[in-house]
Amino acid sequence: MSKIQLFKSFLNKKDFNVMNQSLKSGWLTHGKNNLLFEKKFSKLIKTKYAVSMNSCTSALECALKVVKKKGEVIIPSWTWVSTANVVLNTGNTPVFADVDINSRNMTLEEIKKSFTKKTIAVIVVHYSGLPCDMSEIVKFCRKKRLKLIEDSAETLGAKYNNKYTGSFGTGCFSFFPTKNITTTEGGMLTTNKKKDYLEIKKIIAHGINKSKKPVFWHREADLPGHNFRLPNHLAALGISQLSKLQKFNRIRVRIAKKYDKLLNNYKDIFTVQKIKKNFTHSYQMYTCLIKPNLRSNFLHFMLKNGVEVSAHFVPALHKQSYLKKYNRRKLKNTEFLEKSIITLPIYPNLEKKHLYKIFKLIKLWAKNAKK
Ligand SMILES: Cc1ncc(COP(=O)(O)O)c(C=O)c1O
Repeated sequence: MSKIQLFKSFLNKKDFNVMNQSLKSGWLTHGKNNLLFEKKFSKLIKTKYAVSMNSCTSALECALKVVKKKGEVIIPSWTWVSTANVVLNTGNTPVFADVDINSRNMTLEEIKKSFTKKTIAVIVVHYSGLPCDMSEIVKFCRKKRLKLIEDSAETLGAKYNNKYTGSFGTGCFSFFPTKNITTTEGGMLTTNKKKDYLEIKKIIAHGINKSKKPVFWHREADLPGHNFRLPNHLAALGISQLSKLQKFNRIRVRIAKKYDKLLNNYKDIFTVQKIKKNFTHSYQMYTCLIKPNLRSNFLHFMLKNGVEVSAHFVPALHKQSYLKKYNRRKLKNTEFLEKSIITLPIYPNLEKKHLYKIFKLIKLWAKNAKK
């Protein structure tokens, strides 16, 4: 029996063709396709600049590297480890904030509780495809002169107040295979700040300053950079995938609505996410809450019957062994989510028959769980 996957990328003939063409051109690293991918991406998000690179983690690291001060960075504990790793790897200290249970996102109220004189930046995480409530967060960061970074790894193509995530601060996106579009590994940084853009272009390519070239063999570095580049053929894949983003996301929303409708029949067991006015959701993941005492039984039941399911993210960051010491207070909602969240399969090429199988299993399990 083949399993129904939890995540699946949608790669078609066109995607393979554009990669092939790019490879056959003989230009195997960062090239013209990167520039075109960046142009199309920044046009979509409506930022002045975009920089393609090898991962969202690299984008987050670059976003923090251009902050000249070191200090505390407020992040949610409810996120993937990358968000905290980049804080530590740039010589800063993570400070964990709690999230709202319904949105699973950090709110201004929670950010304020973590703010101190040492705070230099805030990294909001738009969890699973739902943007954070940005207006007040943007105002607060401006007032306190904090760098606002958006970890939008899980959210591409969703809007808050009609503006895409990644356009409120420095946006960091992931194209890992589980995300809304893929370049296999890959990421993008978006910004309106020319100074950051120019420095980040250097950081991702060994720190080399391309304008310092008195003779053609001269290669001068301004800073200790990295090699964070995305190769040309993967940028070609990115362009092709980006052209399908809206279609992909429409299908994701359609599937999510079907899940909502089904799970709402079992309100005593499942709690579906409510989406407020002024928000759209791009459903990189479909998450839902289940009564904590039933979660393990449900997840095992689905997996035993051929459906990959999971719970993102357990343990929360403030419970990870190497991060525990940075925790300052009880994160009640995060700890509740840790016990009650479930992740169900959602992707554009999820076959109808597979979705029906998932529904049938959920109904069967719920009937027995109620007894
Ligand atoms: C919230 C969040 N941040 C960062 C990342 C890291 O993305 P990448 O794998 O592209 O470095 C992920 C990916 O799983 C994520 O979910």
